[in-house]
Parts: sequence; structure tokens; C-alpha cells
Amino acid sequence: MTDIRQLVQDRIAQALGAEGAARDAIQLSPPKNREHGDYALGCFRLAQERGEKPPVTAAAVAELLQPDDLIEAVAPAGPFVNLRLRRAALARIAVEGVLQAEAPFAVAGPQAHGEAIVIDFSSPNIAKPFHMGHLRSTVIGAALCRIHRHLGHEVHGVNHLGDWGMPFAKMMTAWMRFGDETELAKSPMRHMFDLYRQYGDAAKADPQLDDEAAAHFRALESGADNEERKMWQFLRDESLKAFQGPYDRLGVTFDHFTGESFYEDKMEDAMARVQASGVLEIDEGAEVVKLEDVGIKVPCLLRKSDGATLYHTRDLAAAFYRDAEFSPARILYVVGAEQKLHFEQLKGVLKRMGEPLADKVEHVPFGLILAKNEETGKWEKFASRGGNAIFLDEVLDEAVANVRRIIEEKNPELEDKDAIAEQIGVSAIVFNDLKNSRIKDVKFDWEQMLNFDGETGPYVQYAVARLAGILRRCEVPLDAGAELLDGIDHELLADADQVLLTMLDFGNTVQRAAEQSEPSLITNYGIRLAGEIHSYLRDHRVLDAEPAVKQARIALIAAARQLLRTTLGLIGVAAPDRM
Ligand code: ARG
Repeated sequence: MTDIRQLVQDRIAQALGAEGAARDAIQLSPPKNREHGDYALGCFRLAQERGEKPPVTAAAVAELLQPDDLIEAVAPAGPFVNLRLRRAALARIAVEGVLQAEAPFAVAGPQAHGEAIVIDFSSPNIAKPFHMGHLRSTVIGAALCRIHRHLGHEVHGVNHLGDWGMPFAKMMTAWMRFGDETELAKSPMRHMFDLYRQYGDAAKADPQLDDEAAAHFRALESGADNEERKMWQFLRDESLKAFQGPYDRLGVTFDHFTGESFYEDKMEDAMARVQASGVLEIDEGAEVVKLEDVGIKVPCLLRKSDGATLYHTRDLAAAFYRDAEFSPARILYVVGAEQKLHFEQLKGVLKRMGEPLADKVEHVPFGLILAKNEETGKWEKFASRGGNAIFLDEVLDEAVANVRRIIEEKNPELEDKDAIAEQIGVSAIVFNDLKNSRIKDVKFDWEQMLNFDGETGPYVQYAVARLAGILRRCEVPLDAGAELLDGIDHELLADADQVLLTMLDFGNTVQRAAEQSEPSLITNYGIRLAGEIHSYLRDHRVLDAEPAVKQARIALIAAARQLLRTTLGLIGVAAPDRM
């Protein structure tokens, strides 16, 4: 484990003899101003632990902390202590850590004793088009899976498909009424989308249609081997086949495809458990749990008066199942902010039942994807019924076509143009989605997304390709690792200190991204590291530097490239070596 902040914090703790809460209060942060040093220690909490004023603590720390092989200079500044680290130590820890594939730069080994984490993500409704809203859950969830795996946790990525209940029953009704085998075979997603629209229009004119759907759902839930069951199987199989296209292009995989239907035979036990806990009430024939006691006005409906189960019933059964099956420390639900109440209610029911599981349930909400309305110029929600409905596959195709044009302009000689355009185009969308904190709405703006100079996927990818180009020109194999370290003089990398300090921030960034379920921290880290590298390369030559310097810089370049690839890998962005 080569987390540099940790090392320095340990030394400070040792010098002060700090333990327990005082030890925890020693947390380095980046300085406000780089001129002041590499890290700063704010002494507020530590001073409280020691019963002194912060400047007194800062002076004491500066006094006790002697320069050593890691720490070069210590200076108190009011309530802060500024620290400057030795350049050779920065270089050694960063470059060796990456090239020797040690944590936190590489996946933590099994000795990390990771926790089990369940991540419920993507989870589209079957027999409906996979559109932009699901894109966000898919890319955020997949990034969280990779981030937690990187930290050594045991991750269970679950696709909780919407393959049961009334929404599905409506779709089935539409298929029975208006479905066309030939159309479905031609373009399943498009046909299903048309059916979904037709159902909506027809249900407006004839409210009885919903009763028909409810009857089909009852027939499905009866468990009998009937027409509904066959239809369900058929539509489910077709949808899964169609979803696989976008999943493959995005490089997203799941550990479990346990959708709502998986809980068909588990809901009775879940209901019995709610009943036994004494919180289930009958309200006009329906079974509900009232939640005022836990601060939620709307009761949670778990069974309708006609006996039908609901989305909530299945989520409750799923929570019990996951808890028993995986003993997770956390269950993350990567679902749009519009389902906030749903997850509050789920947690509320568990809380009222006195289930410790309540604390593990975490809704990870996110904002909308907005499209520009060409007529009004306003940014509005990508609607599935409005004029701007877009299918994910078509959006990915458009991104790729745009990139293909840019390559034709900028680098027409490039080999494998189609494969690289696919990588860059798909990645640009993923990157754009993960750039801002997830709760913000995402503007879907081609020009912005594909700008090679902005804070974009192509910009960070270009840094990787540039570093690969340097290694190629120096005739260093791209897969070279620890062998590049032999006999290198770390002092010679002192002028790369800002690149090194940024590299050393990686472990901390991944940790925070996992804690806060915030992949944007990784995306922004990538932008920052790429920026530092580009600016380093503006003033430093590699190919024609003198031999010892060249050797050290090659190791730096190889390590930086590797770390950028790891960073992009965490968010699911490809890192081609030429572009
Ligand atoms: N199928 C739902 C939708 O498309 C999302 C399911 C999210 N996961 C869950 N456990 N409720 O809105």
C-alpha cells in the first residue's frame, strides 16, 4: 500500500504520539496554494482533541516533525502546517507503485478483505426501448462496480429488470392487440416502442384497456402455464437480446440478471415477514405499511385489494434476498432522482420493521439527460413520447459517425479508423455523462462532447495516445513495466513534481468516489492528470534528453500512461494508443 498521504499522516501521528480520535483528526489535504507546499494539515480537529488552540497545535506539529526521507520541510502557518515532500520520494512512490502494479494504482489483492457490495443498476423495463435515462444508470452503475472492485470489494452487479407487474402487463396487452411478428423481427426495439405508444393512445380513448392489462397480470401471477406466461417469456427473451447490443458497445456486464420476475416466488415470504413484524395494516382491502412514524407521509402499498403485488413488494423481497444471499455492507440502487420517494418508502418499511438492513439500502440518484429543442433553443428532458425520443443505439451510431468525420479531417492516415471511431465516439458519451456530479442534469451537446481541447473524453484519450507515441518513438514496448525502473535516478524527476503529486492523489480519489458513489471524481481526476501531463510535455523533451534523464522520463511517461488507462478503465472509457 503506497498511499502517500497515509504515510505522511502516520509519521505525524508517530511524532505526536497521537492515537484514536487524535489519530483520525490527522488528515492532509491539498494546499490552497501550491506555493505553500504539497499538502497542508488543518489543525482544527486535532487541536480540539488536544485541548489547545489550532495555531498552538500547528506550532507543536512543526516542532516535533523532523525532516526525513519523505518529508523535506515543515512550516506552521496559523492553524495550518504546510508540508513539502522530497521530490525523489514522490517519484519513487508514484512511478514504482504504478509500474509494479501495487494498490492503490492496481486492483487491491484479496488481502484487502473487501466487503460485499450489491449494485442494482441499469434495470430497464423489458419490452420497452432502452433509452437515455437508462443510459445514465448503466454508465454510473457500471463505473461504481469497477471502482469498488478496484478497491478489492466483492461486487454483485445486478440488473433488476422491470419484467413483471402492471407496466409489463400493459406492454403485453399492447402486443396481443397490435403486435406484428414481422415488424418485431425487423426491429424489436422500434416495434415495441410503437406498441407502447399505441397502448398509451388507445388507453386514453378506452380506459377499459387498463382493466384488460390488470386481468392479464393476474393471469400471469396465477403461476399457471398459460398464454400470458408464454408471452412473458417471449417478450423477455427478445428484449434481453436487444439490450445486449448497447451493453456490449458500452462494455457493461452484470453478475446477475435477476429482474422483478425473479421474486415471483419470494414475495409471499417477504409479506409474511412484514406481517410478523406487526407493521402491516389493512386499508380498504389493500395491505400497507404506514410510515408517518419515520417521517414519510405516504404509506407504502404492498398488496392491492385485488391481491396483486407491486414494484415495492418486489423491491422488498429483493432486499431480503440480497441480504441473505450476499451479506452485503451496502446495497446501492442507481436509479433516477424521480424515484426518491420509492426508496425512502422501502427504507422506511425496513426501519419500521426494525431490520438492520434498512441502513444498508442506499438510493444513488442522478439527474436527467437534457436535449436541446431545436425550435425553442431550450434544454428539455429526453422524453420517450415526445418528438425527441432517441434510441440509445442510434445515439451511439451518431457519435461514432461524428468522430469518423473528425478523424477524416485531422488524421486521415490513421489505421483502423472504424474501430477507433467506435471507441472514441461511445466513450465521449460515457465521459460526458460522468463528468459532472451525478445529481446534476446532463446536457447532451455534440459539439461540447467531441471537442478535443475541452474537458472531454477525447482530450483525456488523446493524452494516452500522445504518451504511447513517445514510448514508441523511444522504442519502449507499450507493455513494459517494472523493468523500466532498473537503476533510475528519482532525483531527476523533480521537475515533474506536479504530475507526480497528481498521480499520488489517485488512491484517495478512488476511495472518495466509492464512499460518495460519485464516478465524476474519477472523470475529473482523468482531466486533471491529462492536463498536468500535457503541460509537463510542453517544456520537457524525452527523446533527445541526456541518457539518465531520458531513462527517468521514460519511466514517468510509462507510469502516467498506465495510470491514465486505469483511470479511464474505471469509468468505462476506452484508451486507444493511437488516434
Ligand atoms: N425498472 C425500473 C425503471 O426503469 C428501475 C428499477 C430500479 N431498481 C430497483 N430495484 N427498483 O424505472
